[in-house]
Amino acid sequence: MIKVTNLTKKYGIHEVLKGISFKVEKGTIYGLLGRNGAGKTTTMNILTGLIDYDDGEIYIDGKILKRNNRKTLNNIGYLPESPAFYSYLTAYEYLYFIGEISGIPYQKVKMQVEELLEIVKLKDHAKKKIQEYSRGMKQKLGLAVALFNNPEIIFLDEPTSALDPESRHDILNLILDMKKNGKTIFLSTHILSDAERVCDYIGILDNGIIIFSGELRELKQKYIQPIYDITFETFPQNIKEKFNNIEWIDDIKINNDKVSIYVNDIERAKKNIINEISKLKVPVISFQIRENNLEDIFIRMVKQNENI
Ligand SMILES: Nc1ncnc2c1ncn2[C@@H]1O[C@H](COP(=O)(O)OP(=O)(O)OP(=O)(O)O)[C@@H](O)[C@H]1O
Ligand SMILES: [Mg+2]
Repeated sequence: MIKVTNLTKKYGIHEVLKGISFKVEKGTIYGLLGRNGAGKTTTMNILTGLIDYDDGEIYIDGKILKRNNRKTLNNIGYLPESPAFYSYLTAYEYLYFIGEISGIPYQKVKMQVEELLEIVKLKDHAKKKIQEYSRGMKQKLGLAVALFNNPEIIFLDEPTSALDPESRHDILNLILDMKKNGKTIFLSTHILSDAERVCDYIGILDNGIIIFSGELRELKQKYIQPIYDITFETFPQNIKEKFNNIEWIDDIKINNDKVSIYVNDIERAKKNIINEISKLKVPVISFQIRENNLEDIFIRMVKQNENI
């Protein structure tokens, strides 16, 4: 559905995208992850035809998106990072306005507005002025705008950031509903637990390159790394200096009295960890092993990328 090959983009001399490539399959959710300033919005704006790129090849739904020849793509929807509305309008008025400037016949607009308000669950608030909306409600309205005219591909730039857990949950469910309806979704986020919940595929953008692109499942399998969480009765002051030199320990994170030990060789860890802990001579209250989540993997991969 989307195919990007060796895409580059510079702002002046600052090369933000240094030749990125990835593919997004039809009917799937692809999440582009990256730190602040990684180039997520830049990528979104290029793919939606809002800004130009320097080099590379972009195919969207089988059609090439040429340089210096951006046409309005009519089968895509876009929810930008900070959607701007005419906030003195009500949601109804705003959606009618969008329909009108899109050149859609009035009867069709009317039908669509009703349908969209239903989909994003804003019907009860549609007669309120947008300035009275909460962030979550504005984001839902932004989604309704992105869904106008029933696009095949929907681009969502940070759809859940700045939302409280309940609104995030609502938006994520709406995104999953879109997928159920056969849409292809390309979203960017730095909320990794959200990406983990909804994405089928993940791309990690860092320092202008894609350091991973593939199935979320594959990413987790490949980079799975067990973590031991240990709670001590009192904090073992000497833990960092003692454990830092152990080969099978990758990293140690400390959170109050809880210590998380990231290991790179589970077999050696299983054999030796109890022994190493006992050497600290601090009573242990709890001890458990867990698998790392997307956030752990992300931090590790980005760190590795920095060391290259
Ligand atoms: N119009 C512009 N002119 C010059 N530099 C820009 C412009 N837009 C973005 N940049 C720079 O390009 C880099 C990537 O920005 P971009 O907004 O794409 O990142 P992002 O991954 O979306 O970040 P965030 O998570 O903060 O939204 C940043 O260093 C930014 O300062
Ligand atoms: Mg951004």
